[in-house]
Amino acid sequence: MSVTTILITGASSGIGAALARLYARPGRQLVLWGQNSSRLEATAAQCRAAGANVEATSFDLTALDEVVARLESVDTRFPLDLAIFNAGLGGSLEIADIAQDRQSVERMATVNFTVPVIGANMLACRMAERKRGRIVLVGSIAESFPLPMAPVYVGTKAGLALFAEALALRVARYGVGISLVVPGFVDTPMSQGLKEPRPFLISAEMAAAIIARRLEKGASRIVLPWQFALIQALTGLLPRFLLRMIFRLAWRISVAAHSRPSSP
Ligand SMILES: NC(=O)c1ccc[n+]([C@@H]2O[C@H](COP(=O)([O-])OP(=O)(O)OC[C@H]3O[C@@H](n4cnc5c(N)ncnc54)[C@H](OP(=O)(O)O)[C@@H]3O)[C@@H](O)[C@H]2O)c1
Repeated sequence: MSVTTILITGASSGIGAALARLYARPGRQLVLWGQNSSRLEATAAQCRAAGANVEATSFDLTALDEVVARLESVDTRFPLDLAIFNAGLGGSLEIADIAQDRQSVERMATVNFTVPVIGANMLACRMAERKRGRIVLVGSIAESFPLPMAPVYVGTKAGLALFAEALALRVARYGVGISLVVPGFVDTPMSQGLKEPRPFLISAEMAAAIIARRLEKGASRIVLPWQFALIQALTGLLPRFLLRMIFRLAWRISVAAHSRPSSP
Protein backbone atom coordinates (compact mmCIF):
# COMPACT_ATOMS: atom_id res chain seq x y z
CA MET A 1 0.00 0.00 0.00
CA SER A 2 1.47 3.39 -0.91
CA VAL A 3 1.39 5.65 2.12
CA THR A 4 1.05 9.40 1.64
CA THR A 5 -0.74 10.78 4.68
CA ILE A 6 0.25 9.77 8.20
CA LEU A 7 -0.96 10.78 11.66
CA ILE A 8 1.40 10.17 14.59
CA THR A 9 0.40 10.94 18.17
CA GLY A 10 3.14 11.45 20.75
CA ALA A 11 5.40 12.85 18.03
CA SER A 12 7.11 15.28 20.41
CA SER A 13 9.32 12.61 21.98
CA GLY A 14 10.80 9.11 21.85
CA ILE A 15 9.35 6.53 19.48
CA GLY A 16 6.78 8.92 17.95
CA ALA A 17 9.41 11.54 17.09
CA ALA A 18 11.68 8.85 15.61
CA LEU A 19 8.79 7.50 13.50
CA ALA A 20 7.98 11.02 12.26
CA ARG A 21 11.60 11.60 11.20
CA LEU A 22 11.75 8.20 9.52
CA TYR A 23 8.53 8.72 7.53
CA ALA A 24 9.42 12.32 6.54
CA ARG A 25 10.11 12.68 2.83
CA PRO A 26 8.93 14.77 -0.14
CA GLY A 27 5.34 14.00 -1.11
CA ARG A 28 4.35 12.92 2.40
CA GLN A 29 1.75 14.74 4.50
CA LEU A 30 2.54 14.24 8.17
CA VAL A 31 0.09 15.20 10.90
CA LEU A 32 2.00 15.30 14.16
CA TRP A 33 0.35 15.56 17.56
CA GLY A 34 2.12 16.14 20.86
CA GLN A 35 1.72 18.06 24.04
CA ASN A 36 4.94 20.00 24.54
CA SER A 37 4.93 22.61 21.77
CA SER A 38 8.66 23.33 21.59
CA ARG A 39 9.58 19.63 21.41
CA LEU A 40 6.85 18.98 18.83
CA GLU A 41 8.00 21.95 16.75
CA ALA A 42 11.57 20.59 16.84
CA THR A 43 10.36 17.25 15.37
CA ALA A 44 8.21 19.11 12.82
CA ALA A 45 11.20 21.25 11.71
CA GLN A 46 13.33 18.11 11.17
CA CYS A 47 10.53 16.53 9.11
CA ARG A 48 10.05 19.69 7.00
CA ALA A 49 13.82 19.78 6.40
CA ALA A 50 13.50 16.23 5.01
CA GLY A 51 10.90 17.50 2.52
CA ALA A 52 7.59 16.48 4.15
CA ASN A 53 4.53 18.71 4.51
CA VAL A 54 3.82 18.88 8.22
CA GLU A 55 0.86 19.98 10.30
CA ALA A 56 1.90 19.94 13.95
CA THR A 57 -0.62 20.47 16.75
CA SER A 58 0.13 20.63 20.46
CA PHE A 59 -2.72 19.77 22.78
CA ASP A 60 -3.62 17.54 25.71
CA LEU A 61 -5.13 14.23 24.57
CA THR A 62 -7.22 14.00 27.72
CA ALA A 63 -9.53 16.63 26.14
CA LEU A 64 -11.60 13.91 24.44
CA ASP A 65 -14.00 16.20 22.55
CA GLU A 66 -11.03 18.01 21.10
CA VAL A 67 -9.46 14.70 20.05
CA VAL A 68 -12.62 13.71 18.17
CA ALA A 69 -13.04 17.12 16.49
CA ARG A 70 -9.39 17.28 15.46
CA LEU A 71 -9.43 13.71 14.14
CA GLU A 72 -12.51 14.44 12.01
CA SER A 73 -10.94 17.61 10.67
CA VAL A 74 -7.59 15.95 9.89
CA ASP A 75 -9.10 12.92 8.16
CA THR A 76 -11.43 15.14 6.10
CA ARG A 77 -8.61 17.41 4.93
CA PHE A 78 -5.97 14.67 4.54
CA PRO A 79 -7.63 11.22 4.25
CA LEU A 80 -5.23 9.14 6.31
CA ASP A 81 -3.42 6.08 4.95
CA LEU A 82 -1.72 5.38 8.27
CA ALA A 83 -2.71 6.48 11.79
CA ILE A 84 -0.25 5.68 14.56
CA PHE A 85 -1.67 6.03 18.08
CA ASN A 86 1.63 6.06 19.91
CA ALA A 87 1.24 8.61 22.73
CA GLY A 88 1.44 7.02 26.15
CA LEU A 89 1.95 7.71 29.81
CA GLY A 90 4.14 5.40 31.88
CA GLY A 91 5.65 5.38 35.32
CA SER A 92 5.87 3.02 38.28
CA LEU A 93 4.23 3.59 41.64
CA GLU A 94 6.36 4.20 44.70
CA ILE A 95 6.61 1.05 46.85
CA ALA A 96 5.19 2.99 49.82
CA ASP A 97 2.00 3.85 47.88
CA ILE A 98 -0.85 1.38 48.24
CA ALA A 99 -2.36 2.21 44.86
CA GLN A 100 -2.49 4.91 42.18
CA ASP A 101 -4.41 8.13 42.82
CA ARG A 102 -7.64 8.79 40.94
CA GLN A 103 -6.40 11.72 38.85
CA SER A 104 -3.35 9.93 37.51
CA VAL A 105 -5.40 6.76 36.85
CA GLU A 106 -7.79 8.86 34.79
CA ARG A 107 -5.01 10.50 32.75
CA MET A 108 -3.18 7.21 32.16
CA ALA A 109 -6.31 5.31 31.20
CA THR A 110 -7.39 8.11 28.84
CA VAL A 111 -4.08 8.57 27.04
CA ASN A 112 -3.10 4.88 26.88
CA PHE A 113 -6.50 3.32 26.23
CA THR A 114 -9.51 5.59 25.67
CA VAL A 115 -7.92 7.88 23.07
CA PRO A 116 -6.49 5.12 20.85
CA VAL A 117 -9.72 3.13 21.13
CA ILE A 118 -11.96 6.08 20.22
CA GLY A 119 -9.55 7.09 17.46
CA ALA A 120 -9.29 3.59 16.01
CA ASN A 121 -13.08 3.13 15.98
CA MET A 122 -13.59 6.48 14.24
CA LEU A 123 -10.89 5.96 11.67
CA ALA A 124 -11.86 2.33 11.01
CA CYS A 125 -15.28 3.57 9.82
CA ARG A 126 -13.78 6.31 7.64
CA MET A 127 -11.06 4.05 6.21
CA ALA A 128 -13.63 1.29 5.55
CA GLU A 129 -15.54 3.69 3.28
CA ARG A 130 -12.31 4.29 1.35
CA LYS A 131 -11.50 0.53 1.50
CA ARG A 132 -7.93 1.28 2.54
CA GLY A 133 -5.87 2.35 5.52
CA ARG A 134 -3.96 1.02 8.50
CA ILE A 135 -4.34 1.88 12.17
CA VAL A 136 -1.40 1.23 14.48
CA LEU A 137 -1.78 0.98 18.25
CA VAL A 138 1.32 1.15 20.40
CA GLY A 139 1.01 -1.19 23.38
CA SER A 140 3.74 -2.65 25.56
CA ILE A 141 5.35 -5.95 26.47
CA ALA A 142 3.92 -5.17 29.92
CA GLU A 143 0.59 -6.42 28.51
CA SER A 144 1.63 -9.98 29.44
CA PHE A 145 2.81 -9.50 32.99
CA PRO A 146 1.07 -8.72 36.31
CA LEU A 147 3.57 -6.01 37.30
CA PRO A 148 2.78 -4.91 40.88
CA MET A 149 4.78 -1.71 40.34
CA ALA A 150 2.40 -0.55 37.58
CA PRO A 151 -1.05 -2.22 37.71
CA VAL A 152 -2.86 0.57 35.83
CA TYR A 153 -0.24 0.80 33.08
CA VAL A 154 -0.28 -2.97 32.47
CA GLY A 155 -4.09 -2.94 32.52
CA THR A 156 -4.31 -0.23 29.84
CA LYS A 157 -1.82 -2.03 27.61
CA ALA A 158 -3.43 -5.48 28.06
CA GLY A 159 -6.82 -3.98 27.21
CA LEU A 160 -5.41 -2.25 24.16
CA ALA A 161 -3.86 -5.50 22.94
CA LEU A 162 -7.13 -7.44 23.09
CA PHE A 163 -9.01 -4.54 21.51
CA ALA A 164 -6.50 -4.46 18.62
CA GLU A 165 -6.89 -8.19 18.01
CA ALA A 166 -10.69 -8.08 18.05
CA LEU A 167 -10.99 -4.93 15.91
CA ALA A 168 -8.57 -6.39 13.36
CA LEU A 169 -10.85 -9.42 12.88
CA ARG A 170 -13.91 -7.17 12.57
CA VAL A 171 -12.61 -4.68 9.99
CA ALA A 172 -10.39 -6.88 7.83
CA ARG A 173 -13.21 -7.43 5.30
CA TYR A 174 -13.37 -3.68 4.68
CA GLY A 175 -9.72 -3.46 3.67
CA VAL A 176 -8.64 -1.81 6.92
CA GLY A 177 -5.54 -3.14 8.67
CA ILE A 178 -4.91 -2.98 12.40
CA SER A 179 -1.42 -3.43 13.83
CA LEU A 180 -0.32 -3.67 17.46
CA VAL A 181 3.22 -2.62 18.32
CA VAL A 182 4.57 -4.30 21.46
CA PRO A 183 7.83 -2.67 22.57
CA GLY A 184 10.17 -4.09 25.19
CA PHE A 185 12.60 -1.43 26.39
CA VAL A 186 13.26 1.54 24.13
CA ASP A 187 15.64 4.30 25.23
CA THR A 188 13.23 7.23 25.57
CA PRO A 189 12.30 9.61 28.40
CA MET A 190 9.58 7.14 29.44
CA SER A 191 11.93 4.20 30.07
CA GLN A 192 14.73 6.48 31.32
CA GLY A 193 12.48 7.22 34.29
CA LEU A 194 12.33 3.55 35.35
CA LYS A 195 14.21 2.34 38.40
CA GLU A 196 14.25 -1.26 37.13
CA PRO A 197 16.91 -2.62 34.72
CA ARG A 198 16.14 -2.32 30.96
CA PRO A 199 17.33 -5.55 29.28
CA PHE A 200 17.70 -5.67 25.47
CA LEU A 201 17.38 -1.86 25.33
CA ILE A 202 17.21 -0.40 21.81
CA SER A 203 17.23 3.19 20.57
CA ALA A 204 14.06 4.97 19.45
CA GLU A 205 15.52 5.13 15.91
CA MET A 206 16.02 1.36 15.89
CA ALA A 207 12.48 0.84 17.19
CA ALA A 208 11.06 3.13 14.48
CA ALA A 209 13.02 1.31 11.76
CA ILE A 210 11.71 -2.11 12.92
CA ILE A 211 8.14 -0.82 13.17
CA ALA A 212 8.18 0.79 9.70
CA ARG A 213 9.76 -2.28 8.09
CA ARG A 214 7.18 -4.64 9.63
CA LEU A 215 4.25 -2.31 8.84
CA GLU A 216 5.33 -2.25 5.22
CA LYS A 217 4.78 -6.03 5.21
CA GLY A 218 1.35 -5.60 6.81
CA ALA A 219 2.30 -7.18 10.16
CA SER A 220 -0.56 -7.30 12.64
CA ARG A 221 1.65 -7.71 15.71
CA ILE A 222 5.14 -6.26 16.04
CA VAL A 223 7.08 -7.29 19.15
CA LEU A 224 10.44 -5.54 19.47
CA PRO A 225 13.26 -6.21 19.90
CA TRP A 226 12.98 -9.88 18.89
CA GLN A 227 14.23 -11.13 22.28
CA PHE A 228 10.93 -10.02 23.81
CA ALA A 229 8.96 -12.07 21.29
CA LEU A 230 10.85 -15.09 22.58
CA ILE A 231 10.36 -14.13 26.25
CA GLN A 232 6.65 -13.57 25.66
CA ALA A 233 6.26 -16.90 23.87
CA LEU A 234 8.12 -18.83 26.60
CA THR A 235 6.41 -17.15 29.55
CA GLY A 236 3.10 -17.66 27.74
CA LEU A 237 3.68 -21.40 28.15
CA LEU A 238 3.82 -21.09 31.95
CA PRO A 239 0.62 -21.69 33.89
CA ARG A 240 -0.69 -18.32 35.03
CA PHE A 241 -0.49 -19.25 38.73
CA LEU A 242 3.26 -19.91 38.31
CA LEU A 243 3.78 -16.53 36.67
CA ARG A 244 1.90 -14.89 39.56
CA MET A 245 4.09 -16.76 42.06
CA ILE A 246 7.25 -15.47 40.36
CA PHE A 247 5.99 -11.88 40.46
CA ARG A 248 4.75 -12.25 44.06
CA LEU A 249 8.22 -13.40 45.13
CA ALA A 250 10.02 -10.67 43.18
CA TRP A 251 7.68 -8.06 44.68
CA ARG A 252 8.23 -9.35 48.23
CA ILE A 253 11.99 -9.06 47.71
CA SER A 254 11.63 -5.46 46.43
CA VAL A 255 9.38 -4.48 49.34
CA ALA A 256 11.73 -6.09 51.89
CA ALA A 257 14.75 -4.31 50.37
CA HIS A 258 12.83 -1.03 50.48
CA SER A 259 11.74 -1.51 54.11
CA ARG A 260 15.23 -2.46 55.37
CA PRO A 261 16.78 0.48 57.27
CA SER A 262 19.75 1.82 55.32
CA SER A 263 23.11 1.35 57.04
CA PRO A 264 24.65 4.53 58.52
N1 LIG B 1 10.09 3.41 25.96
C1 LIG B 1 9.76 2.17 26.26
O1 LIG B 1 10.60 1.40 26.76
C2 LIG B 1 8.37 1.66 25.98
C3 LIG B 1 8.11 0.32 26.30
C4 LIG B 1 6.83 -0.19 26.06
C5 LIG B 1 5.86 0.62 25.49
N2 LIG B 1 6.15 1.93 25.19
C6 LIG B 1 5.07 2.72 24.60
O2 LIG B 1 5.56 3.46 23.49
C7 LIG B 1 4.78 4.65 23.34
C8 LIG B 1 5.71 5.83 23.15
O3 LIG B 1 6.43 6.02 24.35
P1 LIG B 1 7.93 6.61 24.39
O4 LIG B 1 8.77 5.57 24.99
O5 LIG B 1 8.29 7.21 23.10
O6 LIG B 1 7.70 7.71 25.55
P2 LIG B 1 7.95 9.27 25.61
O7 LIG B 1 9.27 9.62 25.00
O8 LIG B 1 7.68 9.65 27.02
O9 LIG B 1 6.79 9.85 24.66
C9 LIG B 1 5.44 9.82 25.04
C10 LIG B 1 4.67 10.70 24.09
O10 LIG B 1 3.28 10.70 24.48
C11 LIG B 1 2.85 12.05 24.56
N3 LIG B 1 1.80 12.25 25.56
C12 LIG B 1 1.75 11.77 26.83
N4 LIG B 1 0.66 12.25 27.46
C13 LIG B 1 0.03 13.06 26.58
C14 LIG B 1 -1.15 13.86 26.65
N5 LIG B 1 -1.91 13.91 27.77
N6 LIG B 1 -1.50 14.57 25.56
C15 LIG B 1 -0.76 14.53 24.44
N7 LIG B 1 0.36 13.79 24.30
C16 LIG B 1 0.75 13.07 25.36
C17 LIG B 1 4.08 12.83 24.97
O11 LIG B 1 3.91 14.19 24.68
P3 LIG B 1 4.79 15.34 25.45
O12 LIG B 1 6.18 14.79 25.61
O13 LIG B 1 4.71 16.49 24.51
O14 LIG B 1 4.09 15.55 26.76
C18 LIG B 1 5.16 12.15 24.12
O15 LIG B 1 5.17 12.68 22.82
C19 LIG B 1 3.89 4.74 24.58
O16 LIG B 1 2.59 4.32 24.26
C20 LIG B 1 4.53 3.77 25.56
O17 LIG B 1 3.60 3.23 26.49
C21 LIG B 1 7.38 2.46 25.43
